[in-house]
Amino acid sequence: MIIVLARWERGWLDPRVELNQWKDMIKAFNVDKFIMIPKTGIMRDTQVDFEEFDKVEDALEKYKNLKRVFVEAPIDFQKHNIKYVPLRKYKHPKDAIYLFGKSGTDNIYLMKEGDDAVAIETPKTEVLWGVIACGIVLYDRVIKWQ
Ligand SMILES: C[S@@+](CC[C@H](N)C(=O)[O-])C[C@H]1O[C@@H](n2cnc3c(N)ncnc32)[C@H](O)[C@@H]1O
Repeated sequence: MIIVLARWERGWLDPRVELNQWKDMIKAFNVDKFIMIPKTGIMRDTQVDFEEFDKVEDALEKYKNLKRVFVEAPIDFQKHNIKYVPLRKYKHPKDAIYLFGKSGTDNIYLMKEGDDAVAIETPKTEVLWGVIACGIVLYDRVIKWQ
């Protein structure tokens, strides 16, 4: 069971555009459930198992049996003195909820003992859009599980 949780980039992107980017990727990588924060009521595509919550905490409470994988930029983990695993070395759990932040809001404040911290190291220090970071993570998961 894989869940992807992310936050709408409402300050930068119209959810109608962003939804299409996320949705096609969710389908392509056979993600079991896609969660967005906060509620907008936007999704009508029945091919995707989609839920919205107002708070990340509410989604984490509902799916508390899954391994929590916090995916953030290296620089953001470093700011909080959190040791992360570079994605290329990460062994993906079978069942997991992968969490992505948005511009100005990461999810690191929700981390607790036992959670995984994973970052994509890029040749130059730049922060990626959540949807792009997620595509890289899902592809990495697919090739390692083959
Ligand atoms: C626009 S970034 C936000 C970065 C930064 N926390 C900020 O406040 O602007 C949106 C999300 O993409 C993901 N992300 C971006 N770059 C990443 C990287 N190099 N490695 C892993 N995740 C990344 C993280 O989940 C991040 O919260």
